[in-house]
Amino acid sequence: MKIGICSDHAGVAYKAELIGWLGEKGFEVVNFGTDTEESMDYSDVAHPLAEAVEKGEVEKGIALCGTGNGMAITLNKHQGIRAGLAWSREIGELVKAHNNANVLVMPARFISPDTAKEIVDAWLETAFEGGRHQRRIDKIPVCR
Ligand code: RB5
Repeated sequence: MKIGICSDHAGVAYKAELIGWLGEKGFEVVNFGTDTEESMDYSDVAHPLAEAVEKGEVEKGIALCGTGNGMAITLNKHQGIRAGLAWSREIGELVKAHNNANVLVMPARFISPDTAKEIVDAWLETAFEGGRHQRRIDKIPVCR
């Protein structure tokens, strides 16, 4: 599976660790930046990741910033994106089971690297439940 990943400066160390870890697990990881700790704007990397997911260039995405909110707010402007913020293993499961999130967002300043890996595992391994959750997801897009 091809996974896209992005972060701002607050999430860059976690991103680097996740890229190596996902690679060892056999995933192909596409890095959308940033790659330094120099202060930058999360939207500059969130939009390219969202577009790659929408076009099918990567199957899923992972995004990290300090709180996760800047990434989630930006990513969810894209109609084809369901970006879910998760800060525990259980929320990582639910964001897939209930929301079928195609981008996982994590708050790097509020979780440990080990928790980040647990969340990614939970999100990747959990199946979407469909049913009433599919009905709810179908009502999300805004069509004007
Ligand atoms: C960066 O200082 C911080 O604002 C950013 O990582 C994120 O938390 C924004 O939502």
